[in-house]
Amino acid sequence: MEKKSRSKFSSKLGFVLAAAGSAVGLGNIWRFPYLAAKYGGGIFLLVYLILAFTFGYTMIMTESTLGRMTEKSPVGAYKHFGASKFLKAGGWLNAIIPLLIVPYYSVIGGWVMKYLFTYLSGNGSSASKADAFAKFTTSAQEQVFWFVLFTLITMLIIFGGVRNGIEAVSKIMMPILVFLAIVIVFYSVTRPGAIKGVKYFLIPNFSQFSYKTVVAALGQMFYSLSIAMGILYTFGSYMKKDIDIEKTTKQVEIFDTAIAVLAGLMVIPAVFAFDGGKNLNAGPGLMFVALPKVFNSMGFGGFIGVVFFLLVLLAAVTSSVALAESVVSTFEDELHFTRKRAATVTATIMLILGTLSALGFNVLSSVKIFNMDILSFFDFLTNSVMMPIAAIATCVLVLKVVKIKTIEDEIKTTSKFRRKIVYNFVIKYVAIIFLLVILVTSVLGAF
Ligand code: PHE
Repeated sequence: MEKKSRSKFSSKLGFVLAAAGSAVGLGNIWRFPYLAAKYGGGIFLLVYLILAFTFGYTMIMTESTLGRMTEKSPVGAYKHFGASKFLKAGGWLNAIIPLLIVPYYSVIGGWVMKYLFTYLSGNGSSASKADAFAKFTTSAQEQVFWFVLFTLITMLIIFGGVRNGIEAVSKIMMPILVFLAIVIVFYSVTRPGAIKGVKYFLIPNFSQFSYKTVVAALGQMFYSLSIAMGILYTFGSYMKKDIDIEKTTKQVEIFDTAIAVLAGLMVIPAVFAFDGGKNLNAGPGLMFVALPKVFNSMGFGGFIGVVFFLLVLLAAVTSSVALAESVVSTFEDELHFTRKRAATVTATIMLILGTLSALGFNVLSSVKIFNMDILSFFDFLTNSVMMPIAAIATCVLVLKVVKIKTIEDEIKTTSKFRRKIVYNFVIKYVAIIFLLVILVTSVLGAF
């Protein structure tokens, strides 16, 4: 068996930053605001917060503890505990999800690059025109060009093995991102008419609640906290034994949520101030439609646009590298591919699936899968179908094979385990049933 000793994060801060760097990405800035806008604002936020701090917490703790105990990524971790064949498939499911996310993630990454380029070339104000975004998405060449460029950057970083730079990039990027987000939020919420949006986003309106709110919030929680996609197993495996898992979980959870809330406050009030709230259902394009209007109306807006899209691009690249890297290392470890072969296979799959998603807005716009465009379908398939199943597998692994007590003992070697009651309650009584219900409703809802 492999006896390589695993390299570890240099410091506690290193771990938190790397985890936060991969947690904070397009999920927080692009995905969260458009879902919140679409699924009822305050009620979505409330459901999201409850889920993140109970269920999300439980899953982060579980996955990183399993990773730290076994020093393995998900496939290896499941094997390590001698899971049944059936359950082992759950390990593979966790490991393979990033391969389906990273292609469409890179399409959105391409959008960010395009907007950065537009602002850099001094044409920022053109991005604020009403049909700018629609024009952009209906151009097949542009969609594919920016997607391929983003994918190349991701794969160059992987091939070049400079992923160690990621920790360094995150360290500089995160504080600037937070600062800039606060500036933009301040501007956005003080626009005339914006206060309606602030209220819409922050005050729950229970009449807007439906099962769809829960399905969307749960999928978003997985996505944003990088749960149920193998990532946290891998992070855990690189974690030193003396790291306080509970504390780092808390930090990542709070930081990730704070960025999402800031992004909501940037985007949603602007939708009210500039469009009278008409665009709430815009979907994946929301940020790209709303923010240029904010920038256009502010002093130094062109400059703010450059800095903003640059930071979002960095956040997107650190995430896409983490996603692609986790696929590459699964291929290396479990299928014994050379690194080069693993990266080539990953890149090829990325290019095929991503191109399909990019073309779904133009050449292939007549292709609808369950009434969704191709990108939204991949997003739905991963977040609302595969991740709930992957999370169920992890819960079953803990309950039936590893046993909660083992997890508890491991956590207690370094942490007080303050939320132990929450943890036990969620994993024993709530998680699996809840996930099954969500899974069934979201699949049925798709028909
Ligand atoms: N959580 C990241 C986001 O919010 C996505 C991601 C998942 C990044 C897994 C890295 C690894 O965008």
